[in-house]
Amino acid sequence: MNIQEVHSYEEMSREAAYILEQHISQHPDATIGFATGSTPIGLYQELIRAHQERGLSFQSVKGFNLDEYVGLSPDHPQSYRHFMQTQLFDHIDIQPGKTKVPAGTGNAEEEASSYEDALQASDGVDIQILGIGENGHIGFNEPGTPFDSLTHVVELTESTRAANARFFDTLEEVPTHAVTMGIETILRAKQLILLISGSHKKVTYEQFLRTQDDPGFPASALKNHPNLLVFVTEDARS
Ligand code: F6R
Repeated sequence: MNIQEVHSYEEMSREAAYILEQHISQHPDATIGFATGSTPIGLYQELIRAHQERGLSFQSVKGFNLDEYVGLSPDHPQSYRHFMQTQLFDHIDIQPGKTKVPAGTGNAEEEASSYEDALQASDGVDIQILGIGENGHIGFNEPGTPFDSLTHVVELTESTRAANARFFDTLEEVPTHAVTMGIETILRAKQLILLISGSHKKVTYEQFLRTQDDPGFPASALKNHPNLLVFVTEDARS
C-alpha cells in the first residue's frame, strides 16, 4: 500500500487525474473503474480539463462503474448513471456504448449477474477509482460483506442511506437497495486508487489504518491488493 498524504482536495484531484491521464495516454484503450459520490468530482473536473485543454482522448476508453441504486432509472437525477453523464461522460469524448453502469431498473439479481459476466468477459479494469463510506464501505459493500463477493444486490444500511440523503429531498426517497461490484470484483482491478477527503472521514481513515482483513470494515480488504494507492487529504488525517 502506498499512501500519499496531500494537503488539499484540489491537490488530491490533480494528482489522481495525472495518474489516469498518463495511463490513458499510454494505453488509449484502457478500462477505468469509475466511482460516484462527492469525493471523485474534483478528479472528474481535472479529467475534463485534460480533455479540453490538452486533447486527452477517451475515444477508446472503456468504463465500468462500481454501483447503482435499485429502482432509479438512468435519467433519474440521483441515479449514478445520471451522475456520471453530468459529472464526466457528457464532457469528454468517451463512446456511450463503452460506459457501463449497472441498470437500476429491471430484475436487480439478473442485472448483478450479467454485470459480473460482462466484467469477467472484459480484459479487466486497469485502474479502479474508489471512495470510502464513513462505515468503511467500498462500492456499496457494507460491513459484513464477504471478501469473496462478486457483483450482487445489497440492502443499504441506515447509516449509508442517511449519509446519502443529502442528495434527495427526504430520507424516504433514498433507495433501500443497490447493485454493486463485490469486494472480489473490485480487487481484480490491476490498480486501485482510494480517495479519502474531508474531516468527516477522520475516524474512517484511522480505522482504515488500524484494520486488516476485517469484514466489519470492508475497505480493509483493499490492503491485500498488490497495487493500492491511497490519497488522503490533511483534513482527513488526525
Ligand atoms: C460510489 C460508491 C461509494 C462512495 C462512498 C463515499 O460509487 O461506491 O462507496 O465512494 O459512499 O461517498 P462520498 O465520496 O460521497 O463520501
